[in-house]
Amino acid sequence: MENGDGKRLRERLTIPHLPRSAAYDPRWMIEDVMGPNPLWPLEELIGRMGLRPGMRVLDLGCGKAMTSVFLARECGVQVWAADLWIDPTDDLRRIAEAGCADRVVPLRVQARELPFAHGYFDAVVSVDAYHYFGTDDFYPGCLADFIRPGGMLGVTVPGVRAEIERVPGHLRPWWQWEFMSLHTLAWWRRHWELTGKVRVLEAWEPEEGWRLWRTWCEVCAEAAADETVREASRREAETLEADAGRTFTFVHLVAETTAPAGP
Ligand SMILES: C[S@@+](CC[C@H](N)C(=O)[O-])C[C@H]1O[C@@H](n2cnc3c(N)ncnc32)[C@H](O)[C@@H]1O
Repeated sequence: MENGDGKRLRERLTIPHLPRSAAYDPRWMIEDVMGPNPLWPLEELIGRMGLRPGMRVLDLGCGKAMTSVFLARECGVQVWAADLWIDPTDDLRRIAEAGCADRVVPLRVQARELPFAHGYFDAVVSVDAYHYFGTDDFYPGCLADFIRPGGMLGVTVPGVRAEIERVPGHLRPWWQWEFMSLHTLAWWRRHWELTGKVRVLEAWEPEEGWRLWRTWCEVCAEAAADETVREASRREAETLEADAGRTFTFVHLVAETTAPAGP
């Protein structure tokens, strides 16, 4: 039985237009937190990606494999749960506990050196990870080669409303150099489309993006078991509050790989 705290957490984390994420245990989500709640944007992405049972999906930068479990359960796909920092043995334990060991393969992978055959995947999904490696001009063209023609690429990353030319005054106390990896929707669209290897089908910023992000941080600042996570979440919530949607946003993109040009 869920206690009062559990109910309160569930209520705070229930987003009416994201019912599939709302069915997951808030404690399970908070325990493995590595950033903004990954299930919310993933639910938005899969609604537009047309994933079908049995498809081969690479979850790139899967972290603690929460998104891989979600993909396997909600879409019935086979998932390669690829990450650099997280030990795949730890991911396997979490995947098995979630009952998905037969459908999710955890791997230690450097996104810049993918160990797969070209055209192997029906889709690549990446949630809150792509900006760590994908801003390189050579990256999108190389990644597209691992997806079959007509396959899908779905990415969600924290982003900015306008390209950052200098540190905005109101963000000076909160600035982190890693924010340089954040870009606008238009920047990402251009970065992908100029390869000629993918066609962006949909690109959008969820309207309530920064508010949901702040809510998630506030909840983690209260409820995470680990003090380091609570402190990092508190600081992130304060940064978002100070910014109030002026700079930070979320960026979602869904693209289709194009067929290679004939001879
Ligand atoms: C903020 S965490 C997000 C993890 C997970 N997607 C989630 O939302 O919970 C970013 C992830 O990107 C992964 N990552 C960063 N650079 C990477 C690289 N070069 N290759 C593969 N994964 C990378 C890290 O290992 C980390 O788990």
